[in-house]
Amino acid sequence: MFILIRKAKLSDLDKLVEIENICFPEKERETRKIISERIETFNEGFLVAEVEQEIVAMINCCATNSDSINQEEFEKIMHFPSQVNSGKNQFLVSIEVLPEFQGNGIANLLLERMIMIAKENKKKKILLVCKEPLIELYKKIGFIPNSDQIKYGNEKWFGMELEL
Ligand SMILES: CC(C)(COP(=O)(O)OP(=O)(O)OC[C@H]1O[C@@H](n2cnc3c(N)ncnc32)[C@H](O)[C@@H]1OP(=O)(O)O)[C@@H](O)C(=O)NCCC(=O)NCCS
Repeated sequence: MFILIRKAKLSDLDKLVEIENICFPEKERETRKIISERIETFNEGFLVAEVEQEIVAMINCCATNSDSINQEEFEKIMHFPSQVNSGKNQFLVSIEVLPEFQGNGIANLLLERMIMIAKENKKKKILLVCKEPLIELYKKIGFIPNSDQIKYGNEKWFGMELEL
C-alpha cells in the first residue's frame, strides 16, 4: 500500500471532521471550528496520510514551552489552538487512522514523520497524553511514561515524553 504523507490544508477540512467523528467517542471529539484552527495554526504540525488520493489518517501537534502537561495547559491546547503554537517542545494533540486502514503501520509512519519534523525544528522533546491501552504503542517508538496525568472525556490520560 503506497501511503503519501503531506501537510494538511483547509480544503481537507470536511474529510478531517469525518475522520474525527469516526475515530473518537462524542466526549473526546473536537469541533469543525477547532480542527480548522489547528490546520491554520499548527503549520508544520498537522499532517495527513493519503491512500489512492483519499485521506485516511491524520496527526496534529503544536509547539509548547511547557515541560509537562497539566489539566490547565491541556485545556488551553485543546480549546484555544491559536494561543499555543510557540515554544521549545512539541505536544502531540491527536493521531487517528480510519478503522479500515488501521494495523498497516500508518500511525507509526505519521509519528516518525512528526519526530523528524520536530528534530528539524530543533525542538527539545515531544510530550503527549494517552489512554492506558496506547502506552505500549508509544513506548515502541521511544516515548517513556512521565508523571503527567489529566482527565479527558470520562477517562484518565497518562503523560509520556520523547527526548529529541
Ligand atoms: C491508535 C491508532 C492511531 C493506531 O493506528 P494504526 O495505524 O492502526 O497503528 P500502526 O498500524 O501504525 O501500529 C503501530 C504499533 O502500535 C500497535 N498498536 C496499534 N493499535 C494499538 C492499540 N489500539 N493498542 C495497542 N497497540 C496498538 C501496533 O501493534 C503496532 O506495533 P508494531 O509497530 O510492533 O507492529 C488507531 O487505532 C486509531 O486511530 N484509534 C482511534 C483514535 C485514537 O485513539 N487515537 C490515539 C489517541 S489521540
